[in-house]
Amino acid sequence: MISHITHLECPQCRRKHSVEASATFCVCGSPLFARYDLARTTEAAKNEEFPSEINSMWRYSQLLPVKSPSCIVSLGEGWTPLITSRRLGTHLGMKLLRIKDEGQNPTSSFKDRGLCAAISKHIELGATEFAIPSAGNAAVSTSAYAAASGAKAHIFMPSDTPEPFFSECELFGAEVVRVEGNISDAGAEMAARGGQWTALSTTKEPYRVEGKKTLGFEICEQLGWRVPDAVICPTGGGTAVIGIWKAFEELEQIGLIGRERPKMYAVQSEGCAPIVQAYEKGLETVEAWHGGETDALGLRVPSPFAGRLILQALRHSGGAAVAVAEQEIATTRRMAGRMEGMDLCPEAAVGIAGLRNLVESGQIDYDEEVVLLNTGSGSRYTNVR
Ligand SMILES: Cc1ncc(COP(=O)(O)O)c(C=O)c1O
Ligand SMILES: [Zn+2]
Repeated sequence: MISHITHLECPQCRRKHSVEASATFCVCGSPLFARYDLARTTEAAKNEEFPSEINSMWRYSQLLPVKSPSCIVSLGEGWTPLITSRRLGTHLGMKLLRIKDEGQNPTSSFKDRGLCAAISKHIELGATEFAIPSAGNAAVSTSAYAAASGAKAHIFMPSDTPEPFFSECELFGAEVVRVEGNISDAGAEMAARGGQWTALSTTKEPYRVEGKKTLGFEICEQLGWRVPDAVICPTGGGTAVIGIWKAFEELEQIGLIGRERPKMYAVQSEGCAPIVQAYEKGLETVEAWHGGETDALGLRVPSPFAGRLILQALRHSGGAAVAVAEQEIATTRRMAGRMEGMDLCPEAAVGIAGLRNLVESGQIDYDEEVVLLNTGSGSRYTNVR
């Protein structure tokens, strides 16, 4: 199995960029997308070459960017269970709710997919040091995959992030900088310090989205190569929305699904809801949110770099962006824990509260099949109990 990657392309201005050198984002200000020789992948798919014996996201390695298998730094990320809700869905007034449990990834969140793909690819391109501004989970993932590849990691995290996030990064040997403020401030501090590192800021390099894309592949494969009616994404920087949407496009092009698409819903907290604000105002790009406080730390992203792509995916899918009250996070998380026996992260609790609103307002019908992302385990969130 080898990657069918051919080049990088800007989805905004269509400029092409090489995959042979380290890349960031397009000169026009848009994130870049990896493109593949999909005709070749169609043949592989026909011959059932997504090897089911590989129980990780690397079963889709033709559609991932790493060319040399020896550069793949895998800890077993992806191929997480799609769990049929026993009680929560019924409680919300739904016939069929499925939870994609990303808490079962190597470092307990969906960030492992993106950072495994990105670090592996940048190692292939010669990187030896990485830096990232992070709300928490991406920092732990970066630290783990950098350690596994023998590279150095520099982490920039808001100082009010719960201690377990810091201690895990340190366990993996990362250099950790505590920054006053939010993830934007952490990014500014990283830029101010500078260094001989490859920066892994959300959607400012092309490969984290490629790893996240495998969520979309897995959801379809686990449903027998079909799409659900709706996908609920707790959204901060938007890599899941963008990656899953890109996955459907590629699956259609290689003939594994048709033109049907699920409604994509981005859910945020009212404490920091720049995407919802832009969606409701009918804007094409996202305006920066001033301040921004929420216990769902991964959703505390005041100015998502890929705002335009997120809004496009939501609108083309027929979905929406919705916000929920901050006070609902802790109660929803406890309620879901009691109903499903799952330690959901606060971000997923935001997703569930948003789903409840969508069902109550009739935007999602009783008999629609919904997939909700539990984007990570709740175990490190000592800020919400
Ligand atoms: C648990 C969790 N859920 C959701 C998100 C938001 O993800 P994205 O940036 O892909 O929108 C994050 C990001 O930090 C997170 O850690
Ligand atoms: Zn461009």
